[in-house]
Amino acid sequence: MERTFAMIKPDGVRRGLTGKIIQRLEDKGFKIVALKKMRISFDLAEEHYGEHKEKPFFKPLVEFITSGPVVAMVLEGPGVIAELRKMMGATNPADALPGTIRGDFATTIDENVIHGSANEADAEREIGLFFKPEEFVS
Ligand code: CMP
Repeated sequence: MERTFAMIKPDGVRRGLTGKIIQRLEDKGFKIVALKKMRISFDLAEEHYGEHKEKPFFKPLVEFITSGPVVAMVLEGPGVIAELRKMMGATNPADALPGTIRGDFATTIDENVIHGSANEADAEREIGLFFKPEEFVS
């Protein structure tokens, strides 16, 4: 069964949106097969966002993602990688439709509440970065 990595970012956790967001994911029918609240180290943040290393927003992005706890999880379900991206809405909340997580809960591109893997290769890489095999329960 397909799996993806999802993370409620520090703004989502700080604003008390964890329950609401997880509710949507469970209502959709996705199974949570791993879940933890954690602080992301500077090194993990740099590795996770490696593809953005040369971008002007890289430094603020790493500072933001390490600024408070996140809720990291692995979701399982048919087509979950693309479906989660649809449920999240556009990266820039200004372009995210109402009814999507970012459309309903976020206003700025820097603090857009949730991350979801972009494709199969990213999902595999990100799951491996955040979770050990013994942390899965299904
Ligand atoms: P996400 O796609 O989860 O991971 C990279 C993050 O960089 C993205 O969400 C945004 O929150 C942030 N970001 C800030 N500025 C930009 C930008 N101009 N383009 C894309 N992402 C940006």
